[in-house]
Amino acid sequence: SDPYEEECDYLFKAVLIGDAAVGKSNLLSRFAGDDFRLDSKPTIGVEFAYRNVKIGDKLIKAQIWDTAGQERFRAITSSYYRGALGALLVYDITRRATFDSIKRWLREIREFGKSDMVVVLVGNKSDLGRSREVSEEEGRNLAEIEDLFFMETSALQNFHVEEAFLHMVTRIY
Ligand code: GTP
Ligand code: MG
Repeated sequence: SDPYEEECDYLFKAVLIGDAAVGKSNLLSRFAGDDFRLDSKPTIGVEFAYRNVKIGDKLIKAQIWDTAGQERFRAITSSYYRGALGALLVYDITRRATFDSIKRWLREIREFGKSDMVVVLVGNKSDLGRSREVSEEEGRNLAEIEDLFFMETSALQNFHVEEAFLHMVTRIY
């Protein structure tokens, strides 16, 4: 049997979604290992990382999948979403096009994901406020319309990264 499963009370899968270079892999490495890379390479196929979260007296192991934003590097979509209970849907606050894509990503989530999936909308790169193209209010409004939780983060500054993931984990649990 899987040794990971024996140590924890719950094991669940969540996915990272969003356009290329919005910071999905750096958000994950922050959450899983408190690491950030200025020179990170585009993800090819699928990678994943684990993080244990203690809620009350329960130990939850979150298995977070990270795939390529670039279409040509993406893994088969249905297997990526299979069994996922949560999703972090990420855009880059300095590139409006990545925010405009959110509707398309939501359609994909609704096509391939579970209907009760917990989705957190994340506006990343909040440290680049001077290059901002999407206001915090626009992000919040979209989240409200689509019934998602919302948070602006900075993987670079490690700002609200923990909160975004933990919100998803506790909502699932
Ligand atoms: P794909 O794997 O191609 O889909 O990209 P990704 O969404 O995984 O993006 P990745 O984490 O590789 O980051 C892309 C670039 O943005 C890298 O140069 C990162 O260093 C940078 N980056 C990521 N998060 C932040 C952030 O919060 N602030 C700033 N300033 N840069 C960031
Ligand atoms: Mg990546």
